Parts: sequence; structure tokens; C-alpha cells
Amino acid sequence: MEPRHLLGIEPLERGEIERILRSARALREVLRGPSKKRDDLRGKTVINLFFENSTRTRVSFEMAAKILGADAINWSASGSSQSKGETFLDTLRTLEAMRPDVLVIRHGASGSAGLAARHLGCAVVNAGDGAHEHPTQALLDALTLEDHLGSLDGKRVAIVGDVAHSRVARSTSLCLRRLGATVVLCGPKTMLPSAAWEGVEMVHDLRQALGEADAVIALRIQTERIGESLFPSAREYARFFGLSRRTLAWAKEGAVVLHPGPINRGVEIEPDVADGDRSLILHQVESGVAIRMAVLLRAAGKLEEDSHG
Ligand code: NCD
Repeated sequence: MEPRHLLGIEPLERGEIERILRSARALREVLRGPSKKRDDLRGKTVINLFFENSTRTRVSFEMAAKILGADAINWSASGSSQSKGETFLDTLRTLEAMRPDVLVIRHGASGSAGLAARHLGCAVVNAGDGAHEHPTQALLDALTLEDHLGSLDGKRVAIVGDVAHSRVARSTSLCLRRLGATVVLCGPKTMLPSAAWEGVEMVHDLRQALGEADAVIALRIQTERIGESLFPSAREYARFFGLSRRTLAWAKEGAVVLHPGPINRGVEIEPDVADGDRSLILHQVESGVAIRMAVLLRAAGKLEEDSHG
């Protein structure tokens, strides 16, 4: 498979993850600087193809493309010919005939980005495929954590909530483990994967999960992927698995809090934790633009070191 695709964290080795993080760190200075314009991708076209809703991911891919000088076209399923019965592959082939250089795709079906990559000639970047992978989220989580914890070697990160239906949990735990962290998953039985994930601990008790944790990542309950309710009430969920000042006290002193967003205040996270000084939620958003700049450069074969082999 063409190496410039980014379909998931699974195929990436530690060195490649570190290369993307290194570039993102440098590119973030452009984002923070007075003139947000480069011409690395001038003359290139990026299509953002979103079959599922998104705020952070879609806007940050668009912003990343524009800062790098590419033309970004945003497509979303609502208002498209999908409602007229066009198939997924016909939509892809139609857009490909317009000769984009990079296709960023979010879709509710696991494997959709891989399918697109097999059929299309341009580079494909997965912006979330069902409950499978969300690689740019994992990379931005890693960047954010490294900013605050330094090297992730030997660090302990708890991922709490609806793990079973979360592409973020899958990609982020793979990524953090490749960078040397220990990952513990926590949630009610109905929200943890039925089969063990290699090398990852799973517990049902939040206190146990947070013990000695350097960081905790809260997840949104993926109601759009679940038919039935997986717990008796939001209040009960919040009591046992929500991040509050009371429960966060079980983690290491100074442990940081992440959430991919969108957050449901009062369910998986209390407002005073989401807005508190240990929360890195908005830092994650900034990291997201930098990571997507690096990933788009990589997709175009222009990431630092690309020319050296
Ligand atoms: C996540 C997603 O869409 O997978 N959001 C995001 O990309 N920031 C998580 C979620 O929707 O809960």
C-alpha cells in the first residue's frame, strides 16, 4: 500500500510516529506566528469528505490545508448526491475524477478509509472510520501528552468510558503504547471490548484505573453507534465513571486530563475539571491543527526527510 496514506496507527512504527510529531511541533510555530501562510502545498488540492458530523477534525484539516497553501474543498454528506442514491464508491470515483491530491475521509463504517485507498489513486487520510481508527486524534493526543509529560516511556495513561465503540480509544492506545506508555482501559462491562487488547490492562473500577496515572483521557459515550442504553442513567454513569475533582484525586498529583471532544458536561466530565487547570482539552485542539499540517505534508510526500528516502 502507498506509504503516504494514513489509514490508522496500526501500520506505523515508532520512528514514523516520532517523525510526524517532530514535524508537527515545528509546524505549530507557524500556527502561533504572525503570518499563517506557507506555500509547501501550493497548487495541491485537498478534499475533506465528511459522511459524519465533525467540528474539530473538519475545521482543523481545512485550516491545516490552507495554512500550507493548498486549496481545500469541503464536502459533507448532507446536501450531496448521497441523498439521491449514489453509492459510496461512485461518490469517491466522481471526486477522484476531479484530480485531488489528498482525500481526507470520515465515515461511519469501519474500513471505509482502507476501501477508499484501494480504489483511488490519490493519498487517503483517515479522519475516523466507524469504531475502527482515528489516527490524527491519536497523534494529537500523543503530541499534547508529550508537551506536558515529556517522553511517554514508562508513563501511565488511563482511558475511561465507552472504549468498545471508540475509534479514539483504539488509535490512541496503540499510539501511546508504541511511544512506550502503559495504557489502562476503564469503563462499565458493557463499554469495554469483549476480547482483550494486546498489552493493555482493562478494569471496571475507576479508582484502580486512576491509581498512579500520569494522565487520564475521558471518552464520550458513542450513542450514535449504540442501539440500546449501556448503563441505567447518565447520573449513575457520572457517579462511577465521570471525572470530577473527587475522582481525579485518585490519580497522581498533577495528572493531566484529556478529552477528544465533543464533551458532555456532567456525564463523562464535570465542568470544573473540563475547565480546570489540569485540563488540556483546548491544547489538544491546537495540537490537532499542527498534526494535520504534518499529516497533509506527509500525504503529499513533503514531510521533512521525505526527500532523503
Ligand atoms: C471523536 C470522533 O469523532 O471520533 N471526536 C473527534 O474527532 N474529536 C470522538 C467523539 O466523537 O466522541
